[in-house]
Amino acid sequence: MNLSIIGTGYVGLVTGACFAKLGHTITCVDIDPEKVQKINNSVSPIYEEGLESLLLTYKDKISATSDYQTALMNTSITFICVGTPSMKNGTIDLSYLKEATKQIATILKNKNSWHLVVVKSTVLPGTTHNIVLPLLEQYSGKKVGIDIGLAMNPEFLKEGVAIKDFLEPDRIVIGFNDEKSRKTLGELYKKFSCPIVDTSLSAAEMIKYASNAFLATKISFINEIGNLCKKLGVDTYDVATGMGLDKRIGRAFLDSGIGWGGSCFPKDIDALIDWAKEIKEHTRIIESTKAVNTDQPLRLVEILKKHLPTLKGKTIGVLGLAFKPNTDDIRDSRAIPIIKELLRNGAHIKAYDPQAMNNFKTLYPTIDYCSTASEVLSADAILITTKWKEFTTLNYQGKIVIDGRKLEQAKNAKIYEGVCW
Ligand code: UGA
Repeated sequence: MNLSIIGTGYVGLVTGACFAKLGHTITCVDIDPEKVQKINNSVSPIYEEGLESLLLTYKDKISATSDYQTALMNTSITFICVGTPSMKNGTIDLSYLKEATKQIATILKNKNSWHLVVVKSTVLPGTTHNIVLPLLEQYSGKKVGIDIGLAMNPEFLKEGVAIKDFLEPDRIVIGFNDEKSRKTLGELYKKFSCPIVDTSLSAAEMIKYASNAFLATKISFINEIGNLCKKLGVDTYDVATGMGLDKRIGRAFLDSGIGWGGSCFPKDIDALIDWAKEIKEHTRIIESTKAVNTDQPLRLVEILKKHLPTLKGKTIGVLGLAFKPNTDDIRDSRAIPIIKELLRNGAHIKAYDPQAMNNFKTLYPTIDYCSTASEVLSADAILITTKWKEFTTLNYQGKIVIDGRKLEQAKNAKIYEGVCW
Protein backbone atom coordinates (compact mmCIF):
# COMPACT_ATOMS: atom_id res chain seq x y z
CA MET A 1 0.00 0.00 0.00
CA ASN A 2 1.04 3.63 -0.37
CA LEU A 3 1.12 5.39 2.99
CA SER A 4 1.80 8.97 4.02
CA ILE A 5 3.05 9.85 7.48
CA ILE A 6 2.64 13.36 8.85
CA GLY A 7 5.38 14.25 11.35
CA THR A 8 8.82 12.64 11.43
CA GLY A 9 9.48 12.50 15.15
CA TYR A 10 10.42 9.13 16.52
CA VAL A 11 6.86 7.74 16.22
CA GLY A 12 6.36 8.90 12.62
CA LEU A 13 9.75 7.93 11.35
CA VAL A 14 9.82 4.54 13.07
CA THR A 15 6.30 3.82 11.76
CA GLY A 16 7.34 4.82 8.23
CA ALA A 17 10.60 2.88 8.25
CA CYS A 18 8.94 -0.26 9.66
CA PHE A 19 6.05 -0.16 7.19
CA ALA A 20 8.65 0.21 4.41
CA LYS A 21 10.37 -2.92 5.73
CA LEU A 22 6.98 -4.68 5.54
CA GLY A 23 6.78 -3.83 1.82
CA HIS A 24 4.78 -0.59 1.75
CA THR A 25 5.75 2.65 0.00
CA ILE A 26 6.06 5.60 2.36
CA THR A 27 5.91 9.37 1.90
CA CYS A 28 6.88 11.26 5.05
CA VAL A 29 5.72 14.84 5.49
CA ASP A 30 7.44 17.34 7.76
CA ILE A 31 7.39 21.13 7.87
CA ASP A 32 11.10 21.16 8.76
CA PRO A 33 13.09 21.22 5.46
CA GLU A 34 16.26 20.05 7.22
CA LYS A 35 14.54 16.86 8.43
CA VAL A 36 13.08 16.28 4.96
CA GLN A 37 16.51 16.56 3.37
CA LYS A 38 18.08 14.23 5.92
CA ILE A 39 15.43 11.54 5.41
CA ASN A 40 15.85 11.79 1.63
CA ASN A 41 19.58 11.25 2.18
CA SER A 42 18.79 8.23 4.42
CA VAL A 43 20.10 10.04 7.48
CA SER A 44 17.97 9.80 10.62
CA PRO A 45 17.22 13.20 12.20
CA ILE A 46 16.93 11.46 15.59
CA TYR A 47 19.05 8.88 17.41
CA GLU A 48 17.11 5.63 17.51
CA GLU A 49 18.84 2.25 17.39
CA GLY A 50 18.53 0.64 13.92
CA LEU A 51 16.51 3.46 12.37
CA GLU A 52 19.16 4.82 10.06
CA SER A 53 19.99 1.39 8.72
CA LEU A 54 16.29 0.84 7.88
CA LEU A 55 16.18 4.23 6.12
CA LEU A 56 19.21 3.18 4.11
CA THR A 57 18.07 -0.38 3.32
CA TYR A 58 14.61 0.76 2.21
CA LYS A 59 15.62 4.07 0.65
CA ASP A 60 13.69 3.22 -2.55
CA LYS A 61 10.52 2.86 -0.51
CA ILE A 62 10.82 5.96 1.71
CA SER A 63 10.79 9.59 0.61
CA ALA A 64 10.10 12.83 2.45
CA THR A 65 8.52 16.11 1.45
CA SER A 66 7.06 19.27 2.97
CA ASP A 67 4.25 19.21 0.42
CA TYR A 68 0.98 17.68 1.64
CA GLN A 69 -0.41 17.68 -1.90
CA THR A 70 2.21 15.24 -3.27
CA ALA A 71 1.94 13.05 -0.19
CA LEU A 72 -1.84 12.85 -0.02
CA MET A 73 -2.53 12.45 -3.73
CA ASN A 74 -0.13 9.52 -4.08
CA THR A 75 -1.25 7.58 -1.01
CA SER A 76 -4.48 6.08 0.31
CA ILE A 77 -3.78 6.06 4.05
CA THR A 78 -2.36 8.96 6.07
CA PHE A 79 -1.02 8.55 9.60
CA ILE A 80 -0.95 11.68 11.74
CA CYS A 81 2.13 11.37 13.98
CA VAL A 82 2.69 14.97 15.04
CA GLY A 83 3.67 15.89 18.58
CA THR A 84 1.07 16.67 21.25
CA PRO A 85 3.31 18.35 23.84
CA SER A 86 2.31 19.69 27.24
CA MET A 87 1.74 23.39 27.60
CA LYS A 88 3.20 25.18 30.64
CA ASN A 89 0.06 24.49 32.71
CA GLY A 90 0.14 20.75 31.88
CA THR A 91 -2.70 20.79 29.34
CA ILE A 92 -2.17 19.14 25.98
CA ASP A 93 -1.18 21.34 23.02
CA LEU A 94 -3.23 20.24 20.00
CA SER A 95 -2.07 22.98 17.63
CA TYR A 96 0.12 20.66 15.47
CA LEU A 97 -2.64 18.07 15.29
CA LYS A 98 -5.24 20.64 14.25
CA GLU A 99 -2.95 22.19 11.66
CA ALA A 100 -2.08 18.79 10.14
CA THR A 101 -5.77 17.84 10.03
CA LYS A 102 -6.71 21.08 8.26
CA GLN A 103 -3.94 20.60 5.70
CA ILE A 104 -5.00 17.01 5.04
CA ALA A 105 -8.67 17.97 4.68
CA THR A 106 -7.88 20.84 2.31
CA ILE A 107 -6.10 18.43 -0.04
CA LEU A 108 -8.77 15.74 0.31
CA LYS A 109 -11.32 18.26 -0.92
CA ASN A 110 -9.94 17.77 -4.44
CA LYS A 111 -9.25 14.05 -4.22
CA ASN A 112 -11.73 11.79 -5.97
CA SER A 113 -11.00 8.54 -4.16
CA TRP A 114 -11.70 7.40 -0.59
CA HIS A 115 -8.85 8.15 1.84
CA LEU A 116 -8.20 6.85 5.35
CA VAL A 117 -6.89 9.23 8.02
CA VAL A 118 -5.35 7.53 11.07
CA VAL A 119 -4.50 9.43 14.26
CA LYS A 120 -1.37 7.93 15.84
CA SER A 121 -0.43 10.94 17.95
CA THR A 122 -1.28 10.53 21.64
CA VAL A 123 -4.53 12.42 22.19
CA LEU A 124 -7.04 12.52 25.05
CA PRO A 125 -10.23 10.45 24.77
CA GLY A 126 -12.74 12.19 22.53
CA THR A 127 -10.18 14.19 20.52
CA THR A 128 -10.39 12.18 17.27
CA HIS A 129 -14.17 12.24 17.28
CA ASN A 130 -14.73 15.75 18.62
CA ILE A 131 -11.85 17.67 17.04
CA VAL A 132 -10.28 15.75 14.13
CA LEU A 133 -13.55 14.54 12.59
CA PRO A 134 -15.29 17.96 12.42
CA LEU A 135 -12.12 19.65 11.10
CA LEU A 136 -11.82 17.01 8.37
CA GLU A 137 -15.42 17.61 7.32
CA GLN A 138 -15.19 21.41 7.58
CA TYR A 139 -12.04 21.77 5.47
CA SER A 140 -12.79 19.02 2.91
CA GLY A 141 -16.50 19.62 2.49
CA LYS A 142 -16.83 15.81 2.56
CA LYS A 143 -18.43 13.33 4.92
CA VAL A 144 -16.29 11.29 7.32
CA GLY A 145 -17.54 7.69 7.26
CA ILE A 146 -18.47 7.93 3.57
CA ASP A 147 -15.83 9.84 1.56
CA ILE A 148 -13.12 9.85 4.23
CA GLY A 149 -12.24 7.04 6.65
CA LEU A 150 -11.10 7.77 10.20
CA ALA A 151 -9.28 5.61 12.75
CA MET A 152 -7.22 5.98 15.92
CA ASN A 153 -4.23 3.66 16.23
CA PRO A 154 -2.09 4.42 19.30
CA GLU A 155 1.59 3.54 19.47
CA PHE A 156 3.28 1.69 22.32
CA LEU A 157 6.91 2.17 21.28
CA LYS A 158 9.69 2.57 23.80
CA GLU A 159 12.52 4.87 22.78
CA GLY A 160 15.70 2.91 22.13
CA VAL A 161 13.80 -0.28 21.18
CA ALA A 162 11.09 1.35 19.08
CA ILE A 163 11.75 -0.72 15.94
CA LYS A 164 11.52 -4.02 17.79
CA ASP A 165 8.41 -2.77 19.62
CA PHE A 166 6.81 -1.83 16.29
CA LEU A 167 7.62 -5.09 14.52
CA GLU A 168 6.87 -7.36 17.50
CA PRO A 169 4.08 -5.66 19.42
CA ASP A 170 2.14 -7.20 22.31
CA ARG A 171 -1.06 -5.88 20.73
CA ILE A 172 -2.37 -3.55 18.06
CA VAL A 173 -5.26 -1.27 18.92
CA ILE A 174 -7.57 -0.08 16.15
CA GLY A 175 -10.15 2.51 17.13
CA PHE A 176 -12.44 2.98 14.16
CA ASN A 177 -15.16 5.34 13.06
CA ASP A 178 -16.66 3.08 10.39
CA GLU A 179 -16.37 -0.49 9.11
CA LYS A 180 -14.38 0.38 5.97
CA SER A 181 -11.74 2.13 8.09
CA ARG A 182 -11.48 -0.88 10.42
CA LYS A 183 -11.14 -3.31 7.51
CA THR A 184 -8.53 -1.21 5.72
CA LEU A 185 -6.35 -0.79 8.80
CA GLY A 186 -6.84 -4.46 9.72
CA GLU A 187 -5.57 -5.36 6.23
CA LEU A 188 -2.47 -3.20 6.76
CA TYR A 189 -1.66 -5.04 10.00
CA LYS A 190 -2.62 -8.52 8.80
CA LYS A 191 0.97 -9.84 8.83
CA PHE A 192 1.26 -9.25 12.59
CA SER A 193 0.63 -12.28 14.79
CA CYS A 194 -0.33 -10.40 17.99
CA PRO A 195 -3.93 -9.81 19.11
CA ILE A 196 -5.71 -6.89 17.44
CA VAL A 197 -8.14 -4.93 19.61
CA ASP A 198 -10.93 -3.40 17.52
CA THR A 199 -12.70 -0.70 19.45
CA SER A 200 -14.15 2.80 19.42
CA LEU A 201 -12.03 5.89 18.69
CA SER A 202 -12.24 7.07 22.31
CA ALA A 203 -11.45 3.67 23.81
CA ALA A 204 -8.31 3.48 21.64
CA GLU A 205 -7.27 6.91 22.92
CA MET A 206 -7.95 5.85 26.51
CA ILE A 207 -6.03 2.56 26.13
CA LYS A 208 -2.91 4.58 25.36
CA TYR A 209 -3.27 6.88 28.39
CA ALA A 210 -4.32 4.11 30.74
CA SER A 211 -1.34 1.98 29.64
CA ASN A 212 1.19 4.76 30.23
CA ALA A 213 -0.41 5.80 33.51
CA PHE A 214 -0.41 2.19 34.71
CA LEU A 215 3.25 1.65 33.79
CA ALA A 216 4.24 4.88 35.55
CA THR A 217 2.16 3.78 38.55
CA LYS A 218 3.96 0.43 38.64
CA ILE A 219 7.29 2.27 38.85
CA SER A 220 6.13 4.74 41.52
CA PHE A 221 4.60 1.85 43.45
CA ILE A 222 7.82 -0.15 43.50
CA ASN A 223 9.73 3.02 44.41
CA GLU A 224 7.44 3.53 47.39
CA ILE A 225 7.92 -0.12 48.38
CA GLY A 226 11.65 0.36 47.74
CA ASN A 227 11.79 3.29 50.15
CA LEU A 228 10.24 1.07 52.83
CA CYS A 229 12.58 -1.82 51.96
CA LYS A 230 15.62 0.40 52.34
CA LYS A 231 14.61 1.31 55.91
CA LEU A 232 14.18 -2.40 56.69
CA GLY A 233 17.44 -3.42 55.03
CA VAL A 234 15.49 -5.56 52.55
CA ASP A 235 16.55 -5.84 48.89
CA THR A 236 13.70 -4.33 46.88
CA TYR A 237 14.89 -6.12 43.71
CA ASP A 238 14.33 -9.48 45.44
CA VAL A 239 10.88 -8.21 46.40
CA ALA A 240 10.21 -7.24 42.76
CA THR A 241 11.31 -10.69 41.60
CA GLY A 242 9.07 -12.37 44.14
CA MET A 243 6.11 -10.19 43.22
CA GLY A 244 6.75 -10.30 39.48
CA LEU A 245 6.52 -14.09 39.27
CA ASP A 246 2.82 -13.73 39.99
CA LYS A 247 1.38 -13.68 36.45
CA ARG A 248 -1.22 -11.15 37.53
CA ILE A 249 1.56 -8.70 38.45
CA GLY A 250 4.50 -9.40 36.10
CA ARG A 251 8.13 -8.37 36.68
CA ALA A 252 8.36 -5.64 33.99
CA PHE A 253 8.52 -2.01 35.18
CA LEU A 254 9.26 -2.99 38.77
CA ASP A 255 12.86 -1.74 38.73
CA SER A 256 13.01 0.70 41.62
CA GLY A 257 15.28 3.73 41.44
CA ILE A 258 15.03 7.47 40.99
CA GLY A 259 11.83 7.30 38.95
CA TRP A 260 10.47 7.85 35.47
CA GLY A 261 11.16 10.59 32.95
CA GLY A 262 11.05 10.91 29.18
CA SER A 263 8.91 12.46 26.52
CA CYS A 264 5.80 10.39 27.29
CA PHE A 265 5.00 9.45 30.90
CA PRO A 266 5.36 12.97 32.38
CA LYS A 267 3.37 14.72 29.66
CA ASP A 268 0.68 12.03 29.44
CA ILE A 269 0.20 11.97 33.19
CA ASP A 270 -0.05 15.76 33.36
CA ALA A 271 -2.57 15.76 30.51
CA LEU A 272 -4.66 13.03 32.16
CA ILE A 273 -4.73 14.80 35.53
CA ASP A 274 -5.66 18.07 33.89
CA TRP A 275 -8.35 16.51 31.71
CA ALA A 276 -9.86 14.69 34.71
CA LYS A 277 -10.19 18.04 36.49
CA GLU A 278 -11.93 19.45 33.43
CA ILE A 279 -14.51 16.67 33.51
CA LYS A 280 -14.79 17.08 37.30
CA GLU A 281 -13.21 13.76 38.30
CA HIS A 282 -10.41 13.01 40.78
CA THR A 283 -7.34 11.03 39.76
CA ARG A 284 -6.02 10.23 43.23
CA ILE A 285 -3.86 7.26 42.20
CA ILE A 286 -2.38 9.03 39.17
CA GLU A 287 -1.67 12.20 41.16
CA SER A 288 0.12 10.13 43.80
CA THR A 289 2.09 8.40 41.07
CA LYS A 290 3.32 11.82 40.01
CA ALA A 291 3.99 13.01 43.58
CA VAL A 292 6.14 9.93 44.38
CA ASN A 293 8.07 10.54 41.18
CA THR A 294 8.73 14.19 42.03
CA ASP A 295 10.24 13.29 45.42
CA GLN A 296 12.15 10.18 44.41
CA PRO A 297 15.24 11.73 42.72
CA LEU A 298 15.77 14.11 45.64
CA ARG A 299 16.26 11.10 47.91
CA LEU A 300 19.53 10.46 46.10
CA VAL A 301 20.82 13.86 47.24
CA GLU A 302 19.55 13.23 50.78
CA ILE A 303 21.51 9.97 50.90
CA LEU A 304 24.57 11.73 49.52
CA LYS A 305 24.34 14.26 52.35
CA LYS A 306 24.64 11.44 54.90
CA HIS A 307 28.14 10.84 53.58
CA LEU A 308 29.06 14.42 52.62
CA PRO A 309 27.05 16.60 55.00
CA THR A 310 28.20 19.83 53.36
CA LEU A 311 27.94 19.89 49.59
CA LYS A 312 29.11 23.50 49.28
CA GLY A 313 32.40 23.55 47.41
CA LYS A 314 32.41 19.76 46.85
CA THR A 315 32.64 18.24 43.38
CA ILE A 316 29.88 15.76 42.66
CA GLY A 317 30.10 13.44 39.66
CA VAL A 318 26.89 12.66 37.79
CA LEU A 319 26.93 9.56 35.59
CA GLY A 320 24.05 9.72 33.13
CA LEU A 321 21.97 12.60 31.81
CA ALA A 322 19.57 10.85 29.40
CA PHE A 323 16.16 9.88 30.85
CA LYS A 324 17.12 6.24 30.24
CA PRO A 325 19.98 4.40 28.48
CA ASN A 326 20.34 4.15 24.68
CA THR A 327 18.84 7.54 23.92
CA ASP A 328 20.03 11.15 23.75
CA ASP A 329 16.64 12.30 25.05
CA ILE A 330 16.85 14.34 28.27
CA ARG A 331 13.19 15.33 28.53
CA ASP A 332 12.20 15.11 32.20
CA SER A 333 15.37 13.16 32.92
CA ARG A 334 15.71 12.47 36.64
CA ALA A 335 19.21 13.97 36.39
CA ILE A 336 17.60 17.41 35.99
CA PRO A 337 16.06 17.79 39.49
CA ILE A 338 19.14 16.12 41.00
CA ILE A 339 21.58 18.56 39.38
CA LYS A 340 19.31 21.47 40.28
CA GLU A 341 19.35 20.39 43.93
CA LEU A 342 23.14 19.85 43.95
CA LEU A 343 23.69 23.33 42.50
CA ARG A 344 21.27 24.81 45.05
CA ASN A 345 23.47 23.25 47.74
CA GLY A 346 26.56 24.90 46.28
CA ALA A 347 28.14 21.78 44.75
CA HIS A 348 30.29 21.78 41.66
CA ILE A 349 29.12 19.27 39.00
CA LYS A 350 31.15 16.99 36.76
CA ALA A 351 28.81 15.17 34.41
CA TYR A 352 29.08 12.59 31.67
CA ASP A 353 26.65 10.85 29.33
CA PRO A 354 27.55 8.85 26.20
CA GLN A 355 24.80 10.47 24.07
CA ALA A 356 22.94 13.22 25.86
CA MET A 357 25.57 15.83 26.76
CA ASN A 358 24.86 18.14 23.82
CA ASN A 359 21.18 18.22 24.66
CA PHE A 360 21.94 18.76 28.35
CA LYS A 361 24.25 21.69 27.57
CA THR A 362 21.22 23.66 26.34
CA LEU A 363 19.74 23.34 29.87
CA TYR A 364 22.93 23.60 31.93
CA PRO A 365 25.65 25.25 29.83
CA THR A 366 28.02 25.97 32.72
CA ILE A 367 28.44 22.67 34.58
CA ASP A 368 31.57 20.63 33.73
CA TYR A 369 31.09 18.01 31.01
CA CYS A 370 33.71 15.24 30.96
CA SER A 371 34.93 13.61 27.78
CA THR A 372 35.01 10.15 29.38
CA ALA A 373 33.04 8.42 32.10
CA SER A 374 36.19 7.69 34.12
CA GLU A 375 36.97 11.43 34.40
CA VAL A 376 33.84 11.74 36.55
CA LEU A 377 35.38 9.34 39.08
CA SER A 378 37.79 12.02 40.33
CA ALA A 379 34.85 13.82 42.01
CA ASP A 380 34.34 13.77 45.82
CA ALA A 381 31.31 11.52 45.33
CA ILE A 382 29.52 9.98 42.36
CA LEU A 383 25.82 9.68 41.63
CA ILE A 384 24.56 7.11 39.12
CA THR A 385 21.49 8.50 37.38
CA THR A 386 21.20 6.51 34.12
CA LYS A 387 22.03 2.82 33.70
CA TRP A 388 24.30 3.01 30.64
CA LYS A 389 26.17 -0.24 29.91
CA GLU A 390 29.41 1.74 29.68
CA PHE A 391 29.19 2.54 33.41
CA THR A 392 29.43 -1.16 34.30
CA THR A 393 33.10 -1.30 33.32
CA LEU A 394 34.32 1.59 35.52
CA ASN A 395 36.50 0.96 38.56
CA TYR A 396 34.59 2.36 41.52
CA GLN A 397 37.08 1.11 44.15
CA GLY A 398 37.87 3.72 46.82
CA LYS A 399 34.96 6.00 45.73
CA ILE A 400 31.77 7.19 47.34
CA VAL A 401 28.94 6.05 45.05
CA ILE A 402 25.24 6.76 45.53
CA ASP A 403 23.29 4.72 43.01
CA GLY A 404 19.90 5.64 41.56
CA ARG A 405 19.72 2.75 39.05
CA LYS A 406 21.03 -0.43 40.72
CA LEU A 407 24.36 -0.81 38.97
CA GLU A 408 25.73 -4.01 40.51
CA GLN A 409 29.30 -3.27 39.40
CA ALA A 410 29.45 -0.11 41.54
CA LYS A 411 29.06 -2.13 44.74
CA ASN A 412 32.82 -2.46 45.16
CA ALA A 413 33.04 1.28 45.92
CA LYS A 414 34.48 2.37 49.31
CA ILE A 415 31.02 3.63 50.26
CA TYR A 416 28.10 2.35 48.20
CA GLU A 417 24.45 3.09 48.82
CA GLY A 418 21.40 2.79 46.58
CA VAL A 419 18.28 4.90 46.62
CA CYS A 420 16.00 1.96 47.48
CA TRP A 421 18.58 -0.64 48.56
C1 UGA B 1 6.99 4.80 27.32
C2 UGA B 1 6.21 3.48 27.30
O1 UGA B 1 6.97 2.45 27.92
C3 UGA B 1 5.84 3.08 25.86
O2 UGA B 1 5.04 1.90 25.88
C4 UGA B 1 5.06 4.22 25.22
O3 UGA B 1 4.72 3.93 23.86
C5 UGA B 1 5.90 5.47 25.25
O4 UGA B 1 6.22 5.80 26.62
C6 UGA B 1 5.10 6.58 24.61
O5 UGA B 1 4.05 6.94 25.13
O6 UGA B 1 5.45 7.00 23.49
P1 UGA B 1 9.54 5.51 26.91
O7 UGA B 1 9.13 6.89 27.31
O8 UGA B 1 10.37 5.34 25.69
O9 UGA B 1 8.24 4.58 26.68
O10 UGA B 1 10.35 4.94 28.13
P2 UGA B 1 10.29 3.69 29.13
O11 UGA B 1 11.21 2.64 28.68
O12 UGA B 1 8.89 3.31 29.38
O13 UGA B 1 10.90 4.37 30.44
C7 UGA B 1 10.29 5.50 31.04
C8 UGA B 1 11.00 5.88 32.32
O14 UGA B 1 10.73 4.94 33.35
C9 UGA B 1 12.53 5.95 32.21
O15 UGA B 1 12.98 7.10 32.89
C10 UGA B 1 13.00 4.67 32.90
O16 UGA B 1 14.28 4.80 33.46
C11 UGA B 1 11.94 4.53 33.97
N1 UGA B 1 11.75 3.12 34.44
C12 UGA B 1 11.29 2.16 33.60
C13 UGA B 1 12.01 2.80 35.78
O17 UGA B 1 12.41 3.67 36.59
N2 UGA B 1 11.79 1.53 36.21
C14 UGA B 1 11.34 0.55 35.39
O18 UGA B 1 11.16 -0.60 35.86
C15 UGA B 1 11.09 0.88 34.04
